[in-house]
Amino acid sequence: MQKIVVLTGAGISAESGIKTFRDADGLWEGHDIMEVASPEGWHKNKTLVLDFYNQRRKQLLDVKPNKAHVLLVALEKKYSVNIITQNVDDLHERAGSSNITHLHGELLKSRSTLNSNLVYDCTTNINIGDTCEENHQLRPHIVWFGEAVPMLDKAIEITKTADILIIIGTSMQVYPAASLVHYIKPNTPIYFVDPKPNITKSKYANLTIIAEKASTGVEKIMALLF
Ligand SMILES: NC(=O)c1ccc[n+]([C@@H]2O[C@H](COP(=O)([O-])OP(=O)(O)OC[C@H]3O[C@@H](n4cnc5c(N)ncnc54)[C@H](O)[C@@H]3O)[C@@H](O)[C@H]2O)c1
Repeated sequence: MQKIVVLTGAGISAESGIKTFRDADGLWEGHDIMEVASPEGWHKNKTLVLDFYNQRRKQLLDVKPNKAHVLLVALEKKYSVNIITQNVDDLHERAGSSNITHLHGELLKSRSTLNSNLVYDCTTNINIGDTCEENHQLRPHIVWFGEAVPMLDKAIEITKTADILIIIGTSMQVYPAASLVHYIKPNTPIYFVDPKPNITKSKYANLTIIAEKASTGVEKIMALLF
């Protein structure tokens, strides 16, 4: 079976009703990103950060995977598919994809602020005073700006195996996620789906840009690959 690696960003979940990160003025749901997604923001105002992710978690439980998530599951009928997502939602899981790596953590998990090995399932709010089994405050299991990306090495190894790379709904502005594309073998076909594609054609030998939203863009890729 040929191997397909799919890199997804916030854009694939937009049609499910989850806002992307740079929808308006660099704000994420009205917040300065550094206030809610950085260690500095956490130290400044833990309640604000917990509330922000509590709202995101609540919203996530109200939305469903869209056609793009579902079509990626159908790819598995003919290909070995690995999804590497920047998203913290669980919409790939709920659609039924088999192999998913979350680069930036998961909204439906919490973890200890002191022992990062203590990770818990979390479908409700995290509040000040909620602690791990070692009595340390819990925080969202999210990789914030400026923090290490523990799944990066795994993601690089997966990307190196790709016979075909598909990139969907990412501004290619968040590093190191955006650098994964550099690890593909020479001449690997790349399909890039985004209504506002931020990729330079001259840099990649075998790049097809599909400047559409995820659902119709992935539909076009399916027609090309089946
Ligand atoms: N759903 C989520 O889990 C979620 C949502 C917002 C932000 N984030 C986090 O914020 C960071 C944002 O980086 P990013 O590059 O993923 O997102 P981004 O917000 O920087 O870029 C989103 C991209 O999606 C595109 N887009 C908008 N609507 C689309 C649609 N219907 N179909 C396809 N593409 C569409 C935009 O043109 C843009 O290029 C990530 O690290 C991620 O963890 C996650």
